[in-house]
Amino acid sequence: MPTVLITGGTGLIGTALSQNLINEGYDVIVLSRHPQETASRHNVDSERNFFRSSGNIFYAGWDIRKMTIDSQAFKQADFIVHLAGAGVADRPWTEARKKEIVESRTRSSELVIKYLKEVPNKVRAVISVSAIGWYGPDHGKPFVETDPASNDFLGQTCLKWEQSIEPVTELGKRLVKLRSGIVLSNDGGALKEFKKPIRFGIATVLGDGQQMTSWVHIDDLCRAFVFALEDPHLVGAFNVTAPQTVTSRELTLQLAEKMNGKKFIKAKIPARLLKMVMGEMSTEVLKSATVSSEKIRSKGFVFRFPSLEGALDNLID
Ligand SMILES: NC(=O)c1ccc[n+]([C@@H]2O[C@H](COP(=O)([O-])OP(=O)(O)OC[C@H]3O[C@@H](n4cnc5c(N)ncnc54)[C@H](OP(=O)(O)O)[C@@H]3O)[C@@H](O)[C@H]2O)c1
Repeated sequence: MPTVLITGGTGLIGTALSQNLINEGYDVIVLSRHPQETASRHNVDSERNFFRSSGNIFYAGWDIRKMTIDSQAFKQADFIVHLAGAGVADRPWTEARKKEIVESRTRSSELVIKYLKEVPNKVRAVISVSAIGWYGPDHGKPFVETDPASNDFLGQTCLKWEQSIEPVTELGKRLVKLRSGIVLSNDGGALKEFKKPIRFGIATVLGDGQQMTSWVHIDDLCRAFVFALEDPHLVGAFNVTAPQTVTSRELTLQLAEKMNGKKFIKAKIPARLLKMVMGEMSTEVLKSATVSSEKIRSKGFVFRFPSLEGALDNLID
C-alpha cells in the first residue's frame, strides 16, 4: 500500500488522520521535530532506521532550522500531507509569535520543496492543510475558493502558507490545499475550549453570538484528506466545512444542552472585554465567516456529519 508522510503529524489532525489512513490500509510516516520523544514508547525498527509504533505508524525526524529531513523516510513517501505549523490559538499574538506562526509554515514548505527537488522520490501528490482564516468577515454570500485572502493576520498567513507550498506544482506534483473549518474533535482544539465552562454549568456566548461559525467534524476532515489523496484529478484549493454553518451562540447552546441537558446558565462575554483580554486574536472568535464547501461536494465528497446536531450526537456521550 502507498506510504503517506505527514508533516506535523503528531497534532490533533495528524493523530486522527494517521489512524484513519492505517485503517484504509496505508503506511504512515509521521514527521516530527521530536521523533524520539514521540515514539519513546515504541520499538526502534532498525531495518528502516526510523522509529516504528506498534500500529504501523513510523516516526521520523526533521529540522526546519537546519533544513534537513530524514531522507530515508522521505524516499518512502508516495504522498505528503503537510500539516506542520505553530498553534494559531495557543499563545498571545505577540510580534515574535506571529513570526513563528507564519515561518513555521512557510519555512517547512520550503524544506519539503527542497527535498522534492534534491532527493530522488516517488511522491505523487502533496495535500496541504490551510484554513478558512483565509477569508475575511462575511460579505453577504458564502465564501468560495476564488475569494481573495483577507487583509487581516490570519488571511495573510494563509496566503503566505498556500503560496509557499505552490512550487510543488512546478516539480510535477499534484497539489491540493484543504481550507479546513474549525475542527470539532474530542481530543483537543476548539471543542475542548468550548466544553470547559460548560462543565461548570456555564454556556459562554462570545460577543453577540450572531457570528457564523464554519466547522467540520474531525472524521470528515480526515476523510477529505483521504479523498484528496485518492482522486488523481483533484487539484487546487477546497474548503472543508460542514454544509450547515451555525451561529457561535447556537454552537455553544447546542453543546451545553448535549452535555448538561437544561442545567446551565448563559453568560455573555461582551466583545469589548474579549478585545481587551485577547487583543488582536479576538477578531477570530468575533468574526462571522460563512464558508461554502460546495466545490469539494461537487467533486463527489460526501460529509458524514453535515449538521451540528449529528456531529455533537457523535462526539458527546
Ligand atoms: N485544529 C483546527 O481547528 C484547524 C483548523 C484549520 C487549520 N488547521 C491547521 O492544520 C494544521 C494541524 O492542526 P492541528 O490542530 O493538528 O495542530 P496541532 O495539534 O497544533 O499540531 C501541529 C503540529 O505541528 C508541529 N509544530 C508545532 N509547532 C511547530 C513549529 N514551530 N515548527 C514546525 N512544526 C511545528 C507539531 O509537531 P511536532 O511537535 O511533532 O514537530 C504539532 O504536532 C495546523 O497547521 C493548523 O493551523 C487546524
